[in-house]
Amino acid sequence: MHAPAAPKKTILRALAGELQSPPPVWMMRQAGRYLPEYRATRAQAGDFLSLCYNPELAAEVTLQPIRRYRFDAAILFADILLLPQALGADLWFVTGEGPRLSTITDAAGVAALKPLDAIHETLGPVYETVKILSRELPREVTLIGFAGAPWTVATYMIAGRGTPDQGPAHAMKAAEPEAFARLIDLLTEATIAYLSAQIEAGAEVVKIFDSWAGSLKGDDFDRYALAPARRITAALKARHPGLPIIAFPRQAGEKYVGFARATGADCVALDNSVDAAWAAEHLQVDGCVQGNLAPHHLVEGGPALVAETRRIVCAFARGPHIFNLGHGITPEADPENVHRMLEAIRG
Ligand code: CP3
Repeated sequence: MHAPAAPKKTILRALAGELQSPPPVWMMRQAGRYLPEYRATRAQAGDFLSLCYNPELAAEVTLQPIRRYRFDAAILFADILLLPQALGADLWFVTGEGPRLSTITDAAGVAALKPLDAIHETLGPVYETVKILSRELPREVTLIGFAGAPWTVATYMIAGRGTPDQGPAHAMKAAEPEAFARLIDLLTEATIAYLSAQIEAGAEVVKIFDSWAGSLKGDDFDRYALAPARRITAALKARHPGLPIIAFPRQAGEKYVGFARATGADCVALDNSVDAAWAAEHLQVDGCVQGNLAPHHLVEGGPALVAETRRIVCAFARGPHIFNLGHGITPEADPENVHRMLEAIRG
């Protein structure tokens, strides 16, 4: 006699294509500055990067939103810019402004990066955080690991900071096409190694954040957003059969159509420019979709928060859906509004 198989976690069921009512839910940047307990732990760590590299405290902030809201998934607390740091870039955060990195502008800069095997030395504490979380998370909660997509990570490595239009990365792509393609290639391989190590440590799903995919047009989109996502997905699924992958080609617009099929991802995460009714018709036919409440509703609250949450739940009610925001929750959000959102989804 076999014991009945444990029921699969809600997030894993959605990613396998199952329709659930209500849908499972988590939020991008759910561990963040809108929570007083996050601000307290960050102060204890000293600064943001020290928090990322402190496994006990990084696990603690990952767990905080789970305790408060009983989300269906926890996302590893780390940052997409730890990988370039592990490859040898200098990285620091300027309070109130964001990340700063040493810049790469040519072939010599790409050649000076560390070999792939060296990344695990810097990233060891991140894998340790994953191990702690896979022990400590409630059993019904899914643990999501993540990395930035090669293009998005490259935009920060080339410019040395966030940019409104990714101008410096587009300029290097035009002026130094070979060095640029080599950087994307190298980041693709490094991302596979990084995500594989997270999976070995206990991540059950991984998400690839291509936050600046929207500025790639035509062939560039296929070459530098779609092809790397396909390569990462294929390599991870070959090494870890059955591992679900969420892709987030933010602001891809009509390029969202067919993205999951073309890359092999199990789910596309939608930004808030995508209309839910349109996405249900054109994207959900390929499988699970995740999204896409605009984060400003969690600042403003009120009837619009409830109405918009319900509209999104209804629009996606005929297929597999993971409720989420269209981008990260902002520091100005009211933690009580998250309860109102959950009530509108689950209540
Ligand atoms: O809760 C989670 O979602 C997990 C942790 C997480 C963070 N960053 C923590 C963080 C994740 C998944 C990220 C991804 C990330 N980091 C992206 C892709 C998603 C997106 O937002 O488009 C990008 C582009 C970055 C790079 C980055 N990190 C920027 C541009 C900034 C500054 C902007 C800001 O919000 O301050 C960060 C800092 C950062 N990463 C914070 C957090 C909680 C705030 C830092 C702080 O506590 O001071």
